[in-house]
Amino acid sequence: VAWCTVLADGSVVAGVLRTVAETLYSTRIGMSSISGLGEVVVEDEISSFFESSPPLKNNDEIVEKLNLFINNYSGGRRIVCVTSGGTSVPLEQRCVRYIDNFSSGNRGAASTENFVKAGYAVIFLYRSGTCQPYCRSLPDDPFLKCFEFPDKTNIQVHASHLEAVKMAVMDQQAAIAEGRLLKLPFSTIYEYLQMLRLIATALKGDGPNSMFYLAAAVSDFYVPWKSMTEHKIQSGAGPLDIRLAQVPKMLSILRSNWAPEAFCISFKLETDSKILIEKATKALEKYKVHAVVANELTTRKEEVVVVSSSSNVLVRRDGDKPESIVEDNLILLIVDRHTTYINGFHA
Ligand code: PMT
Repeated sequence: VAWCTVLADGSVVAGVLRTVAETLYSTRIGMSSISGLGEVVVEDEISSFFESSPPLKNNDEIVEKLNLFINNYSGGRRIVCVTSGGTSVPLEQRCVRYIDNFSSGNRGAASTENFVKAGYAVIFLYRSGTCQPYCRSLPDDPFLKCFEFPDKTNIQVHASHLEAVKMAVMDQQAAIAEGRLLKLPFSTIYEYLQMLRLIATALKGDGPNSMFYLAAAVSDFYVPWKSMTEHKIQSGAGPLDIRLAQVPKMLSILRSNWAPEAFCISFKLETDSKILIEKATKALEKYKVHAVVANELTTRKEEVVVVSSSSNVLVRRDGDKPESIVEDNLILLIVDRHTTYINGFHA
């Protein structure tokens, strides 16, 4: 606090002090190590995140589903883990309130459909309640809007929604029956990161044929489980002052340890287009992913830029086709890059 009087801009000083405090708090100085990628990876920070997380309730069931799905789909074919939707950060252990990251899940759902179309098996790791593959043409509340009761014993689909419902049901059932789609829901940051680690570990044997397409909006801050109050925070106590710790970025460990041979695509979302490409380029270099899909919040459904070490490619939806979506062209490009990666790997 004494420093505040030395510098002109008090808020910056406060920020610096806070950053130092956060660093001391969350990394426990001197415990970091150097990864094979040459990046400083704070492995201790990552293991303490997992050690202090509430364990997944259905861990064994998820592992079983994953192994079944992956073994069923082996034989050199391609498999992608698409993450989708935002993670929540509970404020109470018996959670009533939480902080959320914005994402409708549209990008992940639409990308999943396109990956299945391109012949991939997709592990769709999604936030419960967000958009699902094959449901884009349905109304927001399909059950209430699509169906009608001609009499008290029968239910039928409204003629106006018949085609959309038919396609959604048929396409989803076909993808699941052919073993091309496994849907795994999460809600909290704890669940998301533990499940991502399980998937990465399960996919390790698939080497370059596997891909991570990380479209989920992942919290950067959280309340550590052990310092979280058990019961509902009482509003009578006045204004709420919460200390949020930094969620360790998992991209480095995913690349260096969990799935080092997998093709890895991360995303960068910004609201200020002026800094978007710069931030995406920095993420590309820092996390050593194969490409970063850069998108700006308001134009994300129209265009994205795929930033990689070889080039930055602007991908747009086809404006002259009303049903076209940006993911149609995006996934074509990503699949093409994945092919080049696999060929280079075996060369
Ligand atoms: O769902 P829609 O409404 O269609 O919107 C799609 C989208 C805008 C959410 C999507 O296109 C997108 O940009 N997703 C990533 C948004 C985001 O959270 O960016 P970020 O800067 O926080 O994270 C960048 C990358 O780091 C992400 O790939 C994330 O998986 C990863 N990350 C983030 C935090 C963390 N602790 N560990 C991570 O590995």
